[in-house]
Amino acid sequence: MKDIITNLFIRKWVQIEKKNVVSVEDSMLPEIIRIQAEGFGTKSRNGVRRYSKRMKKIFYVTKSYDQVVGYCIYYLKPVLSLKGFMKKSVIYSISIDKNFRRKHYGENLLRESIKEMRLNGISSIFLYVNAKNLPAIRLYEKMGFRKIKEIKDICGLKETCYEMELRIL
Ligand SMILES: CC(C)(COP(=O)(O)OP(=O)(O)OC[C@H]1O[C@@H](n2cnc3c(N)ncnc32)[C@H](O)[C@@H]1OP(=O)(O)O)[C@@H](O)C(=O)NCCC(=O)NCCS
Repeated sequence: MKDIITNLFIRKWVQIEKKNVVSVEDSMLPEIIRIQAEGFGTKSRNGVRRYSKRMKKIFYVTKSYDQVVGYCIYYLKPVLSLKGFMKKSVIYSISIDKNFRRKHYGENLLRESIKEMRLNGISSIFLYVNAKNLPAIRLYEKMGFRKIKEIKDICGLKETCYEMELRIL
């Protein structure tokens, strides 16, 4: 049931003009997989390829001129409430090429994608981040995300992770 609702939301997704941010194209995948491996030390080609097919419109890529320099992959999470289905989203993965970090590409990527999320009626965005990942936590806090829960063992054995939320509606 949730898959059907998600597909419906994605089909009706409204895309807006974004500054230095576009939706993923198949030709970008090798570079995205490289940036992912560089950022996380592991390759999860399947996740990237799967989301680029199912959630293309909310798989955002940032470019410097014609070069892919980072990406942010979201998925939708419809939540049933008394008012019907609430649209929430989750950041599955975000990473910026090492040579382009600290130049506000990550911040711009989040700001532009959040604008589109708001326009499409997403009420909250969630993410999970390792408690030791201070650059990412600082970035998320700068964008208005708040820590809502501490979770052990989901981002590695004996590792602590924060669940963070940004309420946008
Ligand atoms: C986290 C990450 C995406 C940040 O991207 P970025 O483009 O370098 O970040 P930005 O330049 O847009 O920084 C925006 C803000 O984030 C914070 N920030 C980013 N990197 C930081 C660092 N190394 N140390 C401290 N604060 C940092 C700062 O508040 C910064 O604002 P400021 O420059 O005005 O001080 C990048 O470091 C990365 O790809 N890391 C590897 C993958 C990863 O950890 N992803 C997150 C998994 S949950």
